[in-house]
Amino acid sequence: MKKTVKDINVAGKKVLVRCDFNVPMKDGDITDDIRITSALPTIKYLVSEGAAVILMSHMGRPKGEPKPEYSLKPVADRLSELLGTEVIFAASPQVVDDNVKKTAAALEGGQVMLLENVRYRAEETKNDEPFTGELASLGEIFVNDAFGTAHRAHCSTAGLAKYMPSVSGFLIEKEVKFLGDALESPERPFVAIMGGAKVGDKIPVIENLLKKVDTLIIGGGMSYTFFKAMGYEIGKSILDEESIELAGELMKKAEQMGVELLIPVDSVCAKEFDNNSEKAVFDRDKIPADMMGMDIGPETVKLYCDIISKAKTVVWNGPAGVFEMPSFAEGTRAIAGALAESDAVTVIGGGDSAAAVEQFGFADKMTHISTGGGASLEFLEGKELPGISCLEDK
Ligand code: 3PG
Repeated sequence: MKKTVKDINVAGKKVLVRCDFNVPMKDGDITDDIRITSALPTIKYLVSEGAAVILMSHMGRPKGEPKPEYSLKPVADRLSELLGTEVIFAASPQVVDDNVKKTAAALEGGQVMLLENVRYRAEETKNDEPFTGELASLGEIFVNDAFGTAHRAHCSTAGLAKYMPSVSGFLIEKEVKFLGDALESPERPFVAIMGGAKVGDKIPVIENLLKKVDTLIIGGGMSYTFFKAMGYEIGKSILDEESIELAGELMKKAEQMGVELLIPVDSVCAKEFDNNSEKAVFDRDKIPADMMGMDIGPETVKLYCDIISKAKTVVWNGPAGVFEMPSFAEGTRAIAGALAESDAVTVIGGGDSAAAVEQFGFADKMTHISTGGGASLEFLEGKELPGISCLEDK
């Protein structure tokens, strides 16, 4: 267990807090602020304890250059609204310069400032000096609350821990609790649902989950690689050619381990990758040569929803079909709905599955929706996340 902000005295201290404010933007506006609202409990706690709070984050991948479209200014504005108090924005292309140092030095207990995008500096993603030292010069305590970036060993996510006492914020504590409990002490039956396009990307997660779950459900684009491994023709469906053999091995492994591995039995197919394309349902061994699989079919939906209704713990990562297109959203919507209705502990990996749950209006029915896409995947793989392992143990 890692120490949290509650385990140290922060009153009157300058506290550097890494958040993941990498939020989706459109035309300069934030389109989803869940990552900002998720950071509020830690920020509010530190403010209420009288800490001077210096927030850090990245946004996008500006590759070491100060690119205005990746500025965190809109985040500072949103944070000011949400906190009901001014968040001082340190608008420096170098992130840390003499002015920023002065502003940080003058920051009083209860005040909050936000630095500019840490990825404006090339050292950030290399976890390199002098940037880590420059950041460290601003504060006395490091708090990591950026779960979404905890799988990166960067200056602001891990490097700072070498310089000062380092603890986790409440978001990281919560993410580790829900994802960790699901993996290590799940109430059974424990079901994992894996979707997404490429099997290759998910192999390590599937392998780790096979050791833990009672049932592993496969959906989404990766299903067609499994169909191919079963010897079926898949028409124009997406295929992860390099992973056909691995898919076959995973099926064998599941059988040897006594884990139920469910592959879709039917598929909604279309002529083109287009919402308005002609579509039809086919059994998995009858996909025509001129069509492509876009979603799980109605028989699969029934089978999967039945399994979900009996589960006591469900972890979901990756959509069942091309849910961004209304014609092919039904499978993903049905899974989200089954999770919303179930009384199981439901843990949603970040990224697409989180977006789907949100889109279908079921977000408040889930036990936990992770704010980390890549990070939650690496956590489910059983990997150590550098942004967490660098923090002090209790
Ligand atoms: C994410 O959105 O997954 C995190 O903010 C990490 O971003 P990155 O993949 O650019 O490191």
